[in-house]
Amino acid sequence: MTTDRTPPKLRPATLALDGGLVPDPVTGAIAPGISMSVNNVFTPGAAGFSAEGADLTEQPYLYARWTNPTVRELERRVAALEGAEDALATATGVAAVAATFLTLLKAGDHLIVSDVCYAGAYELATRILPDLGIAVTPVNLSDLNAVQAAIRPETRLIHAESPCNPILRLTDLAGLSAIARAAGVLLSVDSTLATPVITRPLELGADLVIHSLTKFMNGHGDALGGVVCGARALIGRIRARAGVYLGASLSAHNAWAILRGIDTLFPRLRQSSETALILARHLEAHPAVTRVTYPGLESHPQHALARRQMALSGGMVAFQTADPEAMARRMADRFGVIHYAFSLGHQRSICVLIGTDEIQGSTYRMTGAALQEYRRWAGDGVFRLSVGLEDPEDLIEDLNRALQG
Ligand SMILES: Cc1ncc(COP(=O)(O)O)c(C=O)c1O
Repeated sequence: MTTDRTPPKLRPATLALDGGLVPDPVTGAIAPGISMSVNNVFTPGAAGFSAEGADLTEQPYLYARWTNPTVRELERRVAALEGAEDALATATGVAAVAATFLTLLKAGDHLIVSDVCYAGAYELATRILPDLGIAVTPVNLSDLNAVQAAIRPETRLIHAESPCNPILRLTDLAGLSAIARAAGVLLSVDSTLATPVITRPLELGADLVIHSLTKFMNGHGDALGGVVCGARALIGRIRARAGVYLGASLSAHNAWAILRGIDTLFPRLRQSSETALILARHLEAHPAVTRVTYPGLESHPQHALARRQMALSGGMVAFQTADPEAMARRMADRFGVIHYAFSLGHQRSICVLIGTDEIQGSTYRMTGAALQEYRRWAGDGVFRLSVGLEDPEDLIEDLNRALQG
């Protein structure tokens, strides 16, 4: 087990391996072990028992719902990658969003949420928070004037995504941070689709960065997890409230699996970004495809922002075809390599239709100009393709099989 020893000068790709530095002092093991114990012995009087005010993160590890050595190792690794002082790991990505909202917002406060973001986060914000007396305004965060206009004296938090799931619209995080800062409002950024390989929101002025670790960070589709990173004091507040009372603690086993996934985060993201660009170009030239949205294509409406804000173009491609529902059935029938399934960011390619009527009915419920703007990006629906590590030629052949009438 390692201790607080992050050397200051290592580059992010090395930090993803935790520097590869210190073997276990007892056994000499290089690979991290798992500390499965729910509780650890301690010296009476050495630690506070009350969650409020006590530092729950350091030894003794009293009880694993508060903190556990393997989970702590993951928190340190992700914090180092995001350039954050601290991080709180949670059982899922949604739990990290919930932990953030339920700590930073109380009755009478106002939240601005991206009008397009992960459905679970959006539904939590727009369905659950108002019942707690929290006002919520969905805003197209790619329109900074709209953000400015939506801020109220009681606004406490702006919650953004970039690229946003599922349409891959980008948010100008530096521009948004400047507005939030000037208004004294905190900014949380769900960076699940980007990962710290591609964008580091804290460096662009955000206060908190959130990940579903279930996706690219773990990258193997075999563990759920989430994390929120930021300044020590802010993460301490989130840990002391939601980290303890939400009860959505990450298991040591999943923390270990995700640590192993993060070891290969950089090469995986480089490979899937490279393949995604090949597929995006192929799809753009395919007669059955009516539109492709990919930050790495010159045709992306925010390509200039992508070049500024994204170190790589990422592993997600959105595309449209005529009669998307028939196409979805053909994909499910004909794919031999890609999986027709939900989720994203795994080593195996996954594709799914996010139908516009369906997601509008279940989640966003937009009307008027907002709905028109959504349709301008998504038409009747986007195929959300999460590009894995397979040979690009096999993926192209698979897509062609489905796309031919
Ligand atoms: C951008 C984004 N944030 C959060 C989540 C939620 O993650 P989890 O399923 O780990 O709760 C997802 C899941 O798809 C996501 O795409």
